[in-house]
Amino acid sequence: MFILLQAIGRKPGRYASWGEGCGVRVQNVVATDEGRWRLNATNGDAVAAGWTEVLVTKATPTYSAPQISLLDGQTNTEVELTSLDNSYCVVAQPFSESSLVPGHCRVTLDRTSRAVQGNWDVLLGLPGRVSELHVQRQVAVEVERLDMGYIRDTNTNKLHLYCNILHTTKNITFCRFQKTSSSSGYNVVDGLSDGTHSYYGNGFLYRECGMTIENPSAQDEGTWRCSVGVQQWVGTQVQTQTPLQALISVSPTGRSTTNIQSEEISTVFVQEHDSFRVMCRADVSLSYCWFQHPNGTQFTPVPLVHQEQAFWYTGESLKTGDCGIIFSHATKEEAGIWTCHMGPNDASLEITDKVEVRVTGPLAANKKQIVTTIGSTITLYCHSSNGNRPLNYCRFLTPYDLGFRLDSTVTEENALFDRYYFTPGRDLDYGDCSLTIKTVQDEDIGEWTCAALIDQDSEEARDVVTVLLNIDESRAPLSQAGIVGMAVGLSTLVVLLAGVAAYKTGWPAKLWRRNIPPPSHTDAFSLDTVSANSRNSQSSADSDYHVTVNTQRN
Ligand SMILES: *[C@@H]1O[C@H](CO)[C@@H](O)[C@H](O)[C@H]1NC(C)=O
Ligand SMILES: *[C@@H]1O[C@H](CO)[C@@H](O)[C@H](O)[C@H]1NC(C)=O
Repeated sequence: MFILLQAIGRKPGRYASWGEGCGVRVQNVVATDEGRWRLNATNGDAVAAGWTEVLVTKATPTYSAPQISLLDGQTNTEVELTSLDNSYCVVAQPFSESSLVPGHCRVTLDRTSRAVQGNWDVLLGLPGRVSELHVQRQVAVEVERLDMGYIRDTNTNKLHLYCNILHTTKNITFCRFQKTSSSSGYNVVDGLSDGTHSYYGNGFLYRECGMTIENPSAQDEGTWRCSVGVQQWVGTQVQTQTPLQALISVSPTGRSTTNIQSEEISTVFVQEHDSFRVMCRADVSLSYCWFQHPNGTQFTPVPLVHQEQAFWYTGESLKTGDCGIIFSHATKEEAGIWTCHMGPNDASLEITDKVEVRVTGPLAANKKQIVTTIGSTITLYCHSSNGNRPLNYCRFLTPYDLGFRLDSTVTEENALFDRYYFTPGRDLDYGDCSLTIKTVQDEDIGEWTCAALIDQDSEEARDVVTVLLNIDESRAPLSQAGIVGMAVGLSTLVVLLAGVAAYKTGWPAKLWRRNIPPPSHTDAFSLDTVSANSRNSQSSADSDYHVTVNTQRN
């Protein structure tokens, strides 16, 4: 048997007979091999002829394609692995069994997670090729997140804050910015401006939420919270989702200041057997937070899922920097200094803060000891320990055993003995039993008792406060001023001074209580950083005024 090669004009060296029947082997195929081949076979007298069509395709020694990006949490995602015309493929995802896919090379993921991230090995069965083509596809799984920050434009004197959503299918429904120290914020809409604040970004359509502040002042520095409202298709319906939130720390220097901590410790007053809350706040978004009990035990807050839980997370969210824990049952053991440990999203070093827990009776003095000098003004402040509970009356007993009853009708103008009066801005209805002594006399040095009948309690509650004379009179006021300066810094002083001014102009300090929802339960009596500092600057600049200023500004 022989084969007649019709390959006229072709180099004979590339051809050889192939197989038992009538076949030819062509080596080093070139484009011109394409076309109809005629094969003639003869065996004695018998002659057979046939033809075969040869198609020469382009060689695909390698195949490369860009990284595939998938969205975390998506369901039924189709992943196209090649654009080649393959007849089958074998796909191996990282750390899993490979699977054979007939026809076009695509796989469907029930639910996308970061576990599918990495190099996918794909073997392709291609037409005209016996050996499979090995292709690697890099797969990245993107998690929906906020890209936030701020830009200072010194040329135009503008400050741009932004919170853009990356890797999402959700649409923005609103965009809000609020200074965390302020009680109201800005509803930022494209095309609208209040003269100073306007939208910044490419539009809600591009999932960009930003605000431009024109001619920013020192008031605009500090921590801002952005809240981005979103909606999403769920099945055939558009549903509103939980807004995404983050904190932006605008520092005067243009650099982020996340680790500035105050020296003052806030205090939580709790009655034995009640629940209590330890709350810390960071100026940055957190990825986790935990607490250290005064005895060294660590507690990581978990969501509240059932009633019998001993402790759970409280606060708006870690994203907004809230790190709080509620314990359902206070015992004397819980008294002492607690430490909050906050893990920022974008740094590995934890931020820490301290909170003092005092387990007291139903009425507690915020300071057990007050160091003063003759002629100074001091405030003895007692409060219901388990939240703001109305007091039926409030009374004090002096160290020299003089007793008197106080309420807000006793003012500086009609002070008892010309020096004892109810601290302005405080209120029996909110659990305050507070005495201001205008000019401390010798006889005021010693142990005072505050006592009150708390609404719905049957027994009077009381606590004691010791007023001490500062031995080194000349040094004391100076060192106190020094502490204020160090711990608070200039901005807070401005706030405090403004607070005093607001008070002097007759702004009713009580008003803030109505505008701001009453603080919940256990922290009602806790002193935050600023108000705690203000204790040092004598009674006229009291904690309430700090809040008043904010209320007034808005
Ligand atoms: C988001 O906006 C786009 C464009 O307007 C629209 O096609 C899509 O349906 C919207 N999705 C949701 C969840 O509102
Ligand atoms: C610390 O206090 C907690 C809460 O009261 C308690 O569960 C834990 O056993 C205490 N640990 C030590 C070492 O005393």
